[in-house]
Amino acid sequence: MTLAGRKVLITGSGVRIGRAMALAIAQAGGDLILHYNRSRQPAEELKSEIQSIGHQASLVQADLADPESTVHLISQVRRLAPLYALVNSAAIFAPLDLPSTTLEAWEQHFTVNLTAPFLLSQSFASLIDPDGQGRIVNILDWRALRPGIDHFPYTISKAALAALTQSLAVALAPSITVNGLAFGAILPPSDGAATGNILDNVPAGRWANLEEVGEALLFLLEGPSYITGEIIHLDGGRHLI
Ligand SMILES: NC(=O)c1ccc[n+]([C@@H]2O[C@H](COP(=O)([O-])OP(=O)(O)OC[C@H]3O[C@@H](n4cnc5c(N)ncnc54)[C@H](OP(=O)(O)O)[C@@H]3O)[C@@H](O)[C@H]2O)c1
Repeated sequence: MTLAGRKVLITGSGVRIGRAMALAIAQAGGDLILHYNRSRQPAEELKSEIQSIGHQASLVQADLADPESTVHLISQVRRLAPLYALVNSAAIFAPLDLPSTTLEAWEQHFTVNLTAPFLLSQSFASLIDPDGQGRIVNILDWRALRPGIDHFPYTISKAALAALTQSLAVALAPSITVNGLAFGAILPPSDGAATGNILDNVPAGRWANLEEVGEALLFLLEGPSYITGEIIHLDGGRHLI
C-alpha cells in the first residue's frame, strides 16, 4: 500500500503532533485535508509547506466542542472526497482530578475527544475511495488502557475512544481498518504545565521524537490491512509500569 495520491483527513493538524503527522503523510506521498479550530495561521503555513513539496492540501475549520460544527465539517469534507484515511487527533487535555471535574468539563472532553471521532468515523464509510478501502487511526494515550486519577475526564474519554476503536474495527470491517496509537511522553503540554519527573516512569528514559510518531502512523496507514482493532503504544513502555 502506498499513500501516493491518497487523501487523509487529520483533525487538530495545525500544530504540534497533528502537524508532524500531516507532514509525515505528505512526505510519504499523501494528500491532506487539514482540520484546525483556532490555529488558522499555523494551518495555513502547513498547507503551503505541503503544497511546496508537491502534494495537495485543503483546510477545514470546525470547533469539535460543538457537534453541529462537526456535522458541518463532515459536509465540507464530503466536497473533498474521496478519502483514504481519517486520523482523529484533536483533543483537549485539562489537568483536572475527580473533585475538580465539573459537568461542563466532563461534557467538553467527551464531545471533543469521543463524540467528534464517532461522528467522523460514522460518516467516513460513505466518503472512502471507490476501491472501498479505508483506514481510521484514533490517537489515544497510554492512560486509555491504564486509567488512573490524573487528567480525569481526558483519561476516561480516551478509554472510551479505545473502546470505540475496537468496536468500529468490527463494525466497519472488512473495508475499513480501525486502529489506535497510544502516545506517552511525546511533547510537553502546550499550556506550559510542569512535566516534573515524568521520565522516571518511562522505561525508555526519554521523550519520543516526532519522526517516531510519523513512522508509527505510517505503519498503520500503509502497513498490513489485516491489522485492525489494534492499539499500538508509542510510549517508551510507560503503560507497563
Ligand atoms: N503531547 C503528548 O505528549 C501526548 C501524549 C499522549 C497523547 N497525546 C495525544 O496526541 C494528540 C495530539 O496531542 P498534542 O499534544 O499535539 O495536542 P495539543 O497541543 O493540546 O493540541 C490540541 C489539538 O486539538 C485541537 N483541538 C482542541 N480543542 C479543539 C476543539 N474544540 N475543536 C477542534 N479542535 C480542537 C487543536 O486545534 P487548534 O489549535 O486549531 O484549536 C490542536 O490541534 C491528542 O489526541 C493527545 O491526546 C499527546
